[in-house]
Amino acid sequence: MQVEPLTLVILGATGDLTRRLLFPAVYRLFARGRLPELKVVGYATEEMSSKAFQQHLEKSLKEFVPKFSQEVWDRLKAQVEYVSGDLTPEKIRALEPQVEGNALFYLALPPQLFDDAAVGLGSVGLHREKGGWRRLIIEKPFGWDLESARGLRERLHQHWEEHQLFRIDHFLGKETVQNLMVFRFANRFMEPIWNAANIAQVQITAAETLGLEGRYKYYDQAGAMRDMLQNHLMQIFALTAIEPVSKWDANNLRQHKVEVLQSVRPIPQERVKEFAVRGRYGPGVMDGKNVPGYLEEEGVPHDSRTETFAAIKLYIDNWRWEGVPFYLRSGKRMKQSYTEVAVQFKEVPTQLFSGVEDLSNWLIFRMKPEEKIDLVAYAKTPGLNLETRTVVLCTEISRKEEMDFTAYEQLIMDAAEGDQTHFLRFDEVEEAWRILDPILKAWQHGQPEEYASGSLGPNGQGRLMDPGHYWRSPED
Ligand code: BG6
Repeated sequence: MQVEPLTLVILGATGDLTRRLLFPAVYRLFARGRLPELKVVGYATEEMSSKAFQQHLEKSLKEFVPKFSQEVWDRLKAQVEYVSGDLTPEKIRALEPQVEGNALFYLALPPQLFDDAAVGLGSVGLHREKGGWRRLIIEKPFGWDLESARGLRERLHQHWEEHQLFRIDHFLGKETVQNLMVFRFANRFMEPIWNAANIAQVQITAAETLGLEGRYKYYDQAGAMRDMLQNHLMQIFALTAIEPVSKWDANNLRQHKVEVLQSVRPIPQERVKEFAVRGRYGPGVMDGKNVPGYLEEEGVPHDSRTETFAAIKLYIDNWRWEGVPFYLRSGKRMKQSYTEVAVQFKEVPTQLFSGVEDLSNWLIFRMKPEEKIDLVAYAKTPGLNLETRTVVLCTEISRKEEMDFTAYEQLIMDAAEGDQTHFLRFDEVEEAWRILDPILKAWQHGQPEEYASGSLGPNGQGRLMDPGHYWRSPED
């Protein structure tokens, strides 16, 4: 589809997200001719000229785009302007003359500012769809808990309508996340086995070696639960457990995801220990170097309770998933960086052969570091005996040369085309908070368990596992 001419207004234009992810994605789309008639307006509080802003962007493009081309940048640069101001209506009004026709407003801002920005834009009429569409992209987390998420929704709806709101979760633009759907619904063999009769457990892990990366202001407020579980991991969880949709469109898909989330068994606040574990990285050794613990990181208050690791166990009370535990976890400064959905099937009912003792298959959707799908299966060991051995049927989803785009490109294009399929509807966000609120309330007291940087996370995570289940390690 040819994208219509549009103005992209980035609020938070001098911030880290714009520099590292958003603008490099815009540049690559422009370089490929996907956004032929694009104007970019950067907006932030720093006083600077458009020229200085362009120089700032050029520097980050050179850092983050390996195939940077001066010729492409010179063409794009001519379309880039900068306006300085805060989020008050008086200041935001300065954007008005810059924005005509179709416009995409991207809130690349700290979450505390989402509502001021949306209300500010609305109060000067920039949301009005006269002579072109107006859309608002909002980063995560959407609210800090159930109540504040509802409050934020009210504020947004003072001006904006639902069809204009694009709540972004960049995991939904990832290739393997989308492949969870395609692999499942394009293969006949998947449906008969995708249920509690055949699946023993599901483990969703997003482990990172990264630490705070200077983001203490945001991260110390958020923690692993709000930063990763409430959004990215909940989305992967819902997509894994979803019922077949009859038609591939935004409403159907999002409705089916909500139904999964609505079926999640509530976790009572007084039983949180059985269903959730939190940890915080202490000092340790990573790549042979000593690294500080979270509490010693610059900017972190000494009495912080923030968790850098969170793990939860969920059950879905519906026909398909009765009794199957879904384990979700994410942590910083872990031994390895990897993101995966690992589905363990039940063992075969009889052991006919010697060899491998536990004949249960694993199907693994790997999103990081490489994108692939592995099926751990069993076959005969070559030789005179009928013995089993493990074989891994592996498919690489994308070779490096095919993958010179990121989730952000995918999602910016979707928003420019008005396709909300890979953006969150408010009720998904709301259900995710409903599930996690009791845990967050319980975690207002006490302290997370410490784990050494470079380790597999806190020992306590083992207590979530049902009998016979163990966390997979990245080498398994
Ligand atoms: C972001 C979180 O949303 O996702 C970061 O705020 C995290 O803390 C990042 O590092 C992980 O995303 P990816 O795409 O690098 O796996």
